[in-house]
Amino acid sequence: MSVKNLLEGKRGIIFGALNEHSIAWKVAEQAHAQGARFTLTNAPIAMRMGELQNLADFCKSEVIPADATSVEDLENLIAKSMEILGGKIDFVLHSIGMSPNVRKGKSYDDLNYDWFQKTMDVSAVSLHKLLQVAKKMDAINEWGSVVALTYIAAQRVFPDYSDMADAKSLLESITRSFGYHYGVEKKVRINTISQSPTPTTAGSGVSGFNAFISYAEDMSPLGNASALDCANYCITMFSDLTKYVTMQNLFHDGGFSNTGVSRKVMDRFM
Ligand SMILES: NC(=O)c1ccc[n+]([C@@H]2O[C@H](COP(=O)([O-])OP(=O)(O)OC[C@H]3O[C@@H](n4cnc5c(N)ncnc54)[C@H](O)[C@@H]3O)[C@@H](O)[C@H]2O)c1
Repeated sequence: MSVKNLLEGKRGIIFGALNEHSIAWKVAEQAHAQGARFTLTNAPIAMRMGELQNLADFCKSEVIPADATSVEDLENLIAKSMEILGGKIDFVLHSIGMSPNVRKGKSYDDLNYDWFQKTMDVSAVSLHKLLQVAKKMDAINEWGSVVALTYIAAQRVFPDYSDMADAKSLLESITRSFGYHYGVEKKVRINTISQSPTPTTAGSGVSGFNAFISYAEDMSPLGNASALDCANYCITMFSDLTKYVTMQNLFHDGGFSNTGVSRKVMDRFM
C-alpha cells in the first residue's frame, strides 16, 4: 500500500489475533504500518498458543488477556489500554467468532441449546458488552470507529454455518442499534464488514469449507477477498476518510453478495 500514516496518532484495541492467518493479525500489521498504537487482546485460553506475543513484539504493542464475554475483563482491558496508550481510544476491531455447535458438527436442526447461548454470547453479545462498557467509561474519542467482522450467512442460508448465522444476524443488529445511540451521544461510529470466506482457524472449522471457498471464488466477479485486503478495508474504516459511515454492514466479498450466478459456475452445468 502506498498510503502513509493514515492512522498516525490514533490509539486502538484489536481483538481476535490468534495466529498469522487471523484477519485480526493482518489488521494489526497494517495498523502498525499506518502509524497507529494499539493493544492486542484475546481470550486467556488463546494465549496458551503463545503466538500473539510475537505479533505484539513486532507491533511494539502490549497484550492484555480478556474473555470478550466477561464485562469485568472488558473493563480491565479498556482501563489498561487507555493507561498504556495514554488517552482515549480511536478504533476497535472486534474479530471474534466461535460456535461449539459448529465445532462439534451439530446441525442447525439438532442444536445443543447451552452451546447455542455460548455461540451468541461469544460471537455477538460480546460486541454489545464491549460497546456498553466503552460508553459507560467514556473510553472512545469523538469520530472513533468500531468495526466487527461478519459473514453473509446473516442474510442468506449457508446450511453448514449452523447457529453462527443467527449470531452474525444479531451482531449486525447490535451494530445498527448501538451505532444509533453511540452516534447521537458521542459521535462514535460502528460498522460490520462482511468478509469473503477466508482460510483461518475459525473459517476452516466450518464443514465443507474447502469446497465452499472454491465456490465463492468462482461466484465472485473479483474472486474472494484475502485477509490482507480485509485488513486494508478495516484501516480505511478506522481512518478519518470514512467519518460519516456508520451503522452499516459493508460487503467486502469481490461482488459475491450481488451475484445471482456467474458464468464460471454456470459452465459446470452446461
Ligand atoms: N474466516 C472466514 O471465512 C470469515 C468470513 C467472514 C467473517 N469472519 C469473521 O472474522 C472474525 C475473525 O475470524 P478469523 O477468520 O480471523 O478466525 P480466527 O480463528 O483467527 O479468529 C477468531 C478469534 O476469536 C477469538 N475468540 C474466541 N472466543 C473468544 C472469547 N471468548 N473472547 C475473546 N476472543 C475470543 C479466538 O481466540 C480467535 O482469535 C470472526 O468474527 C469470523 O466470524 C471470518
